[in-house]
Amino acid sequence: MTQRTVAVVGSGYMGGGIAQVLALGGARVALADVSQEVAEKNLQRLLTEAAQFTADNLFPADAVERLQANLWAAPSIEEAVAEASYIEEAVPEVLDIKHSTLRRISAAAPEDAVIGSNTSTILIATLAEAVTNPGRFLGVHFSNPAPFIPGVEVIPHAGTTPETVETARDIVALTGKQAAVVKDVTGFVLNRLQYALFHEAAQVVEQGIASAEDVDTLVRTTFGFRLPFFGPFAIADMAGLDVYSFCYASLQTSFPERFATPKILQDLVDAGKLGTKSGAGFLEIPAERTQDLVAYRNRAYVAMSGLLKELGPSPAEETADQDGAASA
Ligand SMILES: NC(=O)c1ccc[n+]([C@@H]2O[C@H](COP(=O)([O-])OP(=O)(O)OC[C@H]3O[C@@H](n4cnc5c(N)ncnc54)[C@H](O)[C@@H]3O)[C@@H](O)[C@H]2O)c1
Repeated sequence: MTQRTVAVVGSGYMGGGIAQVLALGGARVALADVSQEVAEKNLQRLLTEAAQFTADNLFPADAVERLQANLWAAPSIEEAVAEASYIEEAVPEVLDIKHSTLRRISAAAPEDAVIGSNTSTILIATLAEAVTNPGRFLGVHFSNPAPFIPGVEVIPHAGTTPETVETARDIVALTGKQAAVVKDVTGFVLNRLQYALFHEAAQVVEQGIASAEDVDTLVRTTFGFRLPFFGPFAIADMAGLDVYSFCYASLQTSFPERFATPKILQDLVDAGKLGTKSGAGFLEIPAERTQDLVAYRNRAYVAMSGLLKELGPSPAEETADQDGAASA
């Protein structure tokens, strides 16, 4: 198989991490920045960081050699993208900078090169205004820290072609990560969900219902504990959709608008689809798989407890404990 040729434009914090995982996945990766000096400096930083990651057993033993072989610092954006089949844009989250960079990429890259943006918040359709042949453009949103977070949000705008989405999936697969394709709406999906939780958590603290430390403890040790293994729909199916419906009714006594029962939930309950116990719910998990699912769940939670014990408390937890002791 021929080696994939890729460019990362904006070799800072996110672009650097993305370049590392693309290069470790076997692509030849050009780094571009405001100047060759900055790209070169960032390349050296990525190599130094990779050596430390290897020493800490976070990167494979031959990571530095692979990065040395596959990463190069380009003199300009134009030279970085000239032969690239995929380009990841990771310049600062400022519309003018994104637009001017995307214009330069569009003008210098092969016509059929796919261009992905790592934007966190700007609508992909707005960025696409600066891309010639915008069918080849979409959001490919890696999370922080890019070398270690295994999911990538892929965001086509209304004019992105299906082939472009397929290429983005191939790129994500090359990094060993998992892609989820979502529509181009404000906040996309990842930030919308993350901020919905943060918004409620902030209100709980503002209203004096619990301290920030106690909210964090509860999230980590209860429902957040499930999230590495199951998303909200699998969790709801396992809990029972009738149970969710009752909980909504109860929440509505104090927060009628914020916790209106979602129609998709009510429709399933009305149809007798109550989740795993009835063999159908949000996900099609047949009743005969329930035992396997419960066994997996139990193994997963015990393994997670073991991992947390092995790692010990995070510095955030230790600091919270010390603060609590100091103020007690
Ligand atoms: N930091 C995060 O946690 C995070 C997470 C997900 C997505 N993002 C998104 O990733 C993108 C990059 O963020 P970051 O945190 O890596 O920023 P950063 O400041 O670390 O890196 C930006 C890089 O772009 C370079 N740059 C600036 N102007 C340029 C230009 N005109 N041409 C070429 N290069 C230029 C800078 O020199 C720098 O190296 C943003 O869109 C951000 O919203 C960031």
